[in-house]
Parts: sequence; C-alpha cells; structure tokens
Amino acid sequence: MTDMTGSPLTSANVPGAEQAAVEDTLTRNVERSFENCSDPRLLQLMQALVRHLHAFIREVRLTEDEWNSAIAFLTAAGHITDDKRQEFILLSDVLGASMQTINVNNRAWKNATEATVFGPFFAEDAPEIPNGGDIAGGAPGQPCWVEGTVTDTEGRPVPGARIEVWEADEEGLYDVQYGDDRVAGRAHLYADDDGQYSFWGLTPTPYPIPHDGPVGRMLEATGRSPMRASHLHFMVTAPGLRTLVTHIFVAGDTLLQHDSVFGVKDSLIKAFDQQAAGTPTPDGREFNGETWARTRFDIVLAPAEADTAV
Ligand code: BEZ
Ligand code: FE
Repeated sequence: MTDMTGSPLTSANVPGAEQAAVEDTLTRNVERSFENCSDPRLLQLMQALVRHLHAFIREVRLTEDEWNSAIAFLTAAGHITDDKRQEFILLSDVLGASMQTINVNNRAWKNATEATVFGPFFAEDAPEIPNGGDIAGGAPGQPCWVEGTVTDTEGRPVPGARIEVWEADEEGLYDVQYGDDRVAGRAHLYADDDGQYSFWGLTPTPYPIPHDGPVGRMLEATGRSPMRASHLHFMVTAPGLRTLVTHIFVAGDTLLQHDSVFGVKDSLIKAFDQQAAGTPTPDGREFNGETWARTRFDIVLAPAEADTAV
C-alpha cells in the first residue's frame, strides 16, 4: 500500500482512519491556501512542495524533537553562509538535488557531452591563456597536458568556443580557499579555427568538499564521506549552442563510485595517461626529470534549442 505520493505505508506509520483524516484535511487546507496565487507556476511549485513535505512528515512520523533538530540544522546552515560560503548549495549537492536539477534541465541530446555540478569554486575573472598555455599559475601538482576539440552534434568544429577551466591543486585546495589573492589552477582559452584546444593543467587529485559546518556534521552522522572524485572543471560557451558545465574524472580513481555530490557520469571518465620522466612533451616543454600526464577530452555542444525541446 502507498500513500498519495507513492511512499510506502508500513504498519509503523499507518495511522488510524480518524487520525489519517485529520492529517489529510490539513494537507488539503494548506494546498488550498495557495489557490489565489495568480502565477500558475508558483502555484504548482507551492502545492507540490506542501504535498511532498507533508507526505514526508507523515511517512516517517516525524517527532517534535526531530522537527526542532531540522530547524536548528537549517539555522546553522544560514549562520555559516556568507558571500564566500554557501551551505545551502552544499546541502543541495550532497542530497543529489543539484545533480537531479542538472539532469532535468540538460536532457540528453544526440552525442552532446553530459553536464555535471558547477560547484562553488568558479571565478568570473580567470585569466586568459593562449591555446597550449598553462593554467597552473604556480599551483602545486603534476603537470597534465589536456587536449581535445569542440564540435557541435553534427561534428562541425566550433571555432572560438570559450573554454573556462578550474581545478584544485595537489593539496586538494582551490586558489580561492587560501584566503590570499592568488589566482592559480584556473584560466580561460578559446578553441582555434579547427575547434581544437589544449593547455597544461594539473593531474586532478581527490579533495573533500567543505565539511566543517552542518553539512559536514550531517555527513559524519550518517557515515558518509565528504570526498569528491578527482576532477577538472570545464564550462564551455559558444553562440547558438547550449552552455556546457561539466568535469572530467580520472579513470581508475577509487572514489568514482562514492563521489559526495553524485557528479560522476561514465561518459566523463577519462584516461589520464602517466608519462615517464624524460618522455617528450607535445610542445617541447621540459620537466627536468619529473613525470607528467596527458588526457584527451573531445567536447560536443548541443544546440541552444535543446534546452526547450520536449
Ligand atoms: C566542486 O567540485 O568544486 C564542488 C562541487 C560541489 C560541492 C563542493 C565542491
Ligand atoms: Fe571541484
């Protein structure tokens, strides 16, 4: 047996008929309280929210202590949030709500590259580098040559596509987490006339999402890890094409199955091939006996109308 949202009713949560009627009446009254809303979409959102929220409370038979804990949790999330720290987005991320919203809004379109979470560490004003340039800006880590093409779903190159890239250093920190003004591990560049791009980055390493706040405490209390699978962020834009926000992940990373924000998609897992010290680099750069890595990421952009197509 299920309730009105399809949630299972068990013997522990089936109220008697009289009690169920009291609870149903309240849910319906709250739903009806929005009926004068003149914006049909807002009406739909609020009524569905009420239905699902009430169904949750009723399914788990929420205690008043638990309700108080939830309020304290949200209050703490509010207190730790400021213009640099956004605990509510983090909460959305670890509950899979960010990723589900991305799935709903970036429907699969032919062979277009899949999207994943944006994360909190993008910066608008990352420096421009030439094709083949270096995004590290002094950030520590193993150098990694990244190359690929940007095409549309018909295989046509997208010259001039703007490619933003950003990543954590080998300490697992983004530049903005150091609290000084350093700009490192981020840049933007443009695909060339054939849609090709390349740059030197760092081989991605795993790192924890910020976990010193209420979301971290929730992860700990539920036996979950804050670690993200190793990744390199991309945002690719071009006129007439759907903006792509994505990452590439490192094949073989043991965290691929346990990413704390559910961002991994199989199509985004790439081989990062280790190169022995002394192996010639694609652009003749020398590393004085250090190893380096290389990977390839061919990016396919959906047409802008993919956003609205049903
Ligand atoms: C990130 O990949 O940068 C990230 C994504 C979600 C939450 C925290 C960090
Ligand atoms: Fe990240």
